[in-house]
Amino acid sequence: MAVDSKLHDSNVIVRPARSVRGVVRIPGDKSISHRYAMLAAIAEGTSRFQNFSAARDCASTLDCVSKLGCEWKRLKDGDGAIEVRGVGPRLNAPAEVLDCGNSGSTMRMLSGILAGQPFSSELCGDESLSRRPMARIMTPLSEMGARIEATEGGRPPLKIHGGSLKPIHYRPEVASAQVKSCVLFAGLFAEGETVVEEPIRTRDHGEIALRAFGVEVEREGNAVRIAGGQHLRAIEAHVPGDLSSAAFFLCAAALFPGSQITLPGILMNPTRARLLDILMQMGLKVSVGHLEEHHGELVGSIEARGAGWKGGLIAGADTAALIDEIPVLAAVAPYSDEGLEVRDGKELRVKESDRIAAVAINLRKMGAEVEERPDGLRIPGRQNLHGAQLDSFGDHRIAMAFAIAALRADGETIIHGADAAGVSYPAFFKDLTSIVSSS
Ligand code: S3P
Repeated sequence: MAVDSKLHDSNVIVRPARSVRGVVRIPGDKSISHRYAMLAAIAEGTSRFQNFSAARDCASTLDCVSKLGCEWKRLKDGDGAIEVRGVGPRLNAPAEVLDCGNSGSTMRMLSGILAGQPFSSELCGDESLSRRPMARIMTPLSEMGARIEATEGGRPPLKIHGGSLKPIHYRPEVASAQVKSCVLFAGLFAEGETVVEEPIRTRDHGEIALRAFGVEVEREGNAVRIAGGQHLRAIEAHVPGDLSSAAFFLCAAALFPGSQITLPGILMNPTRARLLDILMQMGLKVSVGHLEEHHGELVGSIEARGAGWKGGLIAGADTAALIDEIPVLAAVAPYSDEGLEVRDGKELRVKESDRIAAVAINLRKMGAEVEERPDGLRIPGRQNLHGAQLDSFGDHRIAMAFAIAALRADGETIIHGADAAGVSYPAFFKDLTSIVSSS
C-alpha cells in the first residue's frame, strides 16, 4: 500500500509509487458550495444541492447559516445532497458566536451578508484563521456604513454591527475573489448600485451564483455591478467537482509517464481552468470531454496522461489564477526537467499557512535545493528527493501537496497533521490510495 493512515489518526505514511491509474470522483467545488449555501440562506424557498462539497470549510459555512436561523439537512439521495431552507434577506440575530473554523471564505464572504443585517454578530476562527488579514473586507464594508471591530492589525475575531448600507465603487488593492464576493453580497443590501473593479480578474463564482439565484449582475471589463434590493429565488443545482482538488491527482499523473487518470464532472470555469493550460505546457497530456453547463458553470470530464514533466514559470495573472494549486505544483517541481519559478505570489504567505515557507521547509527536509523569495520560489529541476518527516503546518493543501511529492521520493515519508486535508477534501487519502500502484 502506497498510502497508510494507520500510524496515528493525524499522521499518514506515503511510500514510493510506480504509477497512477484509475477514475476519481472529485467532491463538489468548495468555492461554489460556500456561495450556494450563503445565497440559499438569504433566498426565498428551499434550495437543493447535489455533490455539495464535503469540505470541513463548507460545514463551517452551513453551521454559521444555521446559527442565523437557516435550517439545512443532508438528503439520502446521493453523495453530498443537501437541502437549505432559505430565510429571505433578513436573517435571525445569532445567539452565539459564529465559528468559521479554518475557513477564510466563510468569514470574508458571510461578513458581506452580515453587514446588511439589522443586528450585531461576532465571527471567530481557529488559530490559523485568527492570523489572517481581514482589513481587506473591513475597509469596503466600513465605507458602505457597517461598523466592524477586529483585533490589532485587522485580525479575527470580527464584530460586525450591520444596518443600512450605501453603495460604493470599490477598487480592491489585492486581487481576491473572496473580497469581490463579500462586497457584491453586501451590495444586495445597499440602496443603489455597487461596483467592484478588480486589479486582475479573479474567479467569478460569486457573480455566476448570484445570477443562478435570479440576481442581475453586470460585468464590463474587470468591473462587476450589482443593484441593491434584489430578491433571490431558491435553486436546485449540482455542484461541479473541484478542480483545485483534482490538481493533486493531475500532478500525480504528471510524475509517472504512462499513468492515466479520469476525473468526471470537473469544474471548467475559465477563471479556474488556467491550471489545465499550465499543466499541458509543463508536459501533461490532457483532454476534456462531455462539456456541459450547470447554472452558468462549465463542467467537463478530464482524461490525463503522464508523459514527462518540464516545469516552467508561473507569474502575474497566472499566479492569481493558480493561487490554490501552487503548493502542489511547487512540491513536484524538483522532479521536473527545468524546475519551477513562482513570482508575484505574496498572497501565498497569508493563506491557511505561509505557503511559501511551508513548501520550502518541507522540500528541504526531502533533500531539495530551494530558493525562497519574499513573493515566490525558485526550485531547480532534476533533483532526487528522499522520504522525510514532514509537517502539514495545519494546512490542507500542504498536507496533500506533499503526499503527491512523496510518491516519487526514495523511501517512506510521514506527513504529520495530515488530517488537515479534511478542510477541503476529507476522502483525499482514500482516493489517492485507490489510484496509486506501487508494483
Ligand atoms: C477563494 C478565493 C481564493 C482562494 C480560496 C478560495 C474563493 O482566495 O485562495 O481558496 O472561493 O473565492 P482569495 O480570494 O483570497 O484570493
